[in-house]
Amino acid sequence: MSRISEKIEHLREKLRRHEYLYYVLDAPEITDAEYDAMMHELQALEREHPELITPDSPTQRVGGKPREGFVKVPHSSPMLSLDNALNEEELREFDQRVRGLLGDEKFSYAAELKLDGLSLAVHYKKGQLAQAVTRGDGVVGEDVTENARTIGSIPLRLREEHGDWEVRGEVVLTRRSFEKANAERAAAGLPLFANPRNAAAGALRVLDPSVTASRKLDFFGYFLFQEGRPALETQWKALDKLEAMGFKVNPRRKKCADIEKLVAFCNEWAEKRESLPYEIDGVVAKVDSVEQQNRLGWTAKAPRWAIAYKFAARQAETVVKDIDVQVGRTGTLTPVARFEPVKVGGVTVQNATLHNEDEIERLGLKIGDTVLIERSGDVIPKVVRVVKEGEHRHAFRMPKHCPVCGGDIVRAEGEAASRCINTNCPARLRESILHWAARGVMDIDGMGDALVNQLVDQGLVRNVADIYQLTTELLIDLERMGQKSAEKLIANIDASRKQPLPRILNGLGIPFVGERTAQFLADEFGDLDKIAAADEDELQRAEEVGPKVAKSIRRFFHESHNKSLIERLRHEGFTFTYERKKRDGGPLAGMTFVLTGTLPTLSRDEAKAKIEAAGGKVAGSVSRKTHYVVAGDEAGSKLDKAKELGIKVIDEAALIEMLG
Ligand code: IVH
Repeated sequence: MSRISEKIEHLREKLRRHEYLYYVLDAPEITDAEYDAMMHELQALEREHPELITPDSPTQRVGGKPREGFVKVPHSSPMLSLDNALNEEELREFDQRVRGLLGDEKFSYAAELKLDGLSLAVHYKKGQLAQAVTRGDGVVGEDVTENARTIGSIPLRLREEHGDWEVRGEVVLTRRSFEKANAERAAAGLPLFANPRNAAAGALRVLDPSVTASRKLDFFGYFLFQEGRPALETQWKALDKLEAMGFKVNPRRKKCADIEKLVAFCNEWAEKRESLPYEIDGVVAKVDSVEQQNRLGWTAKAPRWAIAYKFAARQAETVVKDIDVQVGRTGTLTPVARFEPVKVGGVTVQNATLHNEDEIERLGLKIGDTVLIERSGDVIPKVVRVVKEGEHRHAFRMPKHCPVCGGDIVRAEGEAASRCINTNCPARLRESILHWAARGVMDIDGMGDALVNQLVDQGLVRNVADIYQLTTELLIDLERMGQKSAEKLIANIDASRKQPLPRILNGLGIPFVGERTAQFLADEFGDLDKIAAADEDELQRAEEVGPKVAKSIRRFFHESHNKSLIERLRHEGFTFTYERKKRDGGPLAGMTFVLTGTLPTLSRDEAKAKIEAAGGKVAGSVSRKTHYVVAGDEAGSKLDKAKELGIKVIDEAALIEMLG
């Protein structure tokens, strides 16, 4: 081998390893920038030596050109679907059928989560990705190889294996990527995807692979075949083998020795499903032994050895009785649908936001219509579509005057939102105070709806600075407020004076400035006074700040009420300067930390600021992406989780040493 080809192969090996760490194990060891630099180096070498390019080179994930259409491909064996069990009783009936057919034989179930995506068969020849085929009608699917190549968790070549294999599994989109995709579509004026599955399907079945690549799909393997049949003697072994071959296999799986264990697993995940980053709609239980599977056999539609236990429906139909409007903290009027109360996935739903007039128009919704509503994730319910037009339906009209203060309502050119223009509107005030006190902003525990309503109604709080004039004596006179809770609240209010600049910026409620933009502004300017003094051009130096956002920030800081509010906050002891994050490098660059328990000398915010100043990140919960958990006294569940995932736990002293 020439020196160049050796160098190329060496780079590919390194990139494959980091790709695997990132996409499959969710545990990157290097930063995105370092990965990109390595990739660019390889691309440059391959450009100079195109004869050395191989299809399994990490550069070859994106590169396919848009095609004319999809080629149909027959499956090695039919991709059937599963029979469903809609409740525990039906699950037990399935178990009885299996036991009846297997006589007294012992057997166990492999229980896996039922990911809500679409199935894909991926073929490997001599260990190299050869073809990826959608389910299609189960007998014949469509060749989507070029698109599948862009999915980071589908290996281009297998680890530790060189033969011919077929891996079947599920293509999914995380809730986050789904929300991002929809936000982009909303901005572009395109219809929204109803759920992550539709968005994933759309991304996999596009003719241009670069669209698939941009959607960040994920793939989890659940079957390992050779020549159209299970390759190993048990499903459990197949899952382990898939993992060893470099696939993502859902770690939340369980071998269940009997139906009781299976029922417990199903119930556990019905409870915890919202904690996952992607959607699941049930549990798949498979008789573990392939030999027993073969004896149980198939019906025309589905195997007798497996079942899909479906979680309770999260959709329901109901009638829209009315559409009200709510006034938000920036004066935005949000239409809210009021329903005939209906149970969805165990929760009674009475209303759902309709976002704005455009969304109502998109749905074609009128008052009196019957709609399909859906709860997904922990997000509030949403209207999916109109299923039946009401007999006496009538259109919703955005009011001309604010329902709270009577002020004028305007909808600015090019904006979807209608706003109340009265800056003193009590509804805006209420919402802006709740936002200021919210978790992730000022974290003022105990400052909820009921209290804020009283504070606003009694004129005790007319802007967020007034919060800092409250005293225990004033609070005690309010409803449902005792000495203890008043003292506690005052302590929480006091503590909030220490919140760092990004939170202050977010808390101010500047239109278009949320948590992310606030962070970028603080990173760029490091000082509230500099932001307030910056002109529109200067403001756009901050990441993700464009002309529209810059204009809004400028307008905010020029308004005289806002100017005096800032002065009062300064007077209350808020810190307007910010230790900026080092952009590149820093001793902790690319590392993610989770803090838990009480550290001996540093407060949580101090520790966070120090880690960030050194280029590291601080996350709220422990995952495979976490590099270190910094534990202090009385560390709780995060510590357990770190141990479970084998993540390094360090103390404050070790952290300080790492900070250099
Ligand atoms: S096994 C014989 N395992 O659910 C077919 N399916 O109706 C067996 N799914 O079409 C499929 N997660 O798209 C299996 N761990 C899992 C799954 C899973 C999701 C989907 C798959 C299939 C449908 C079952």
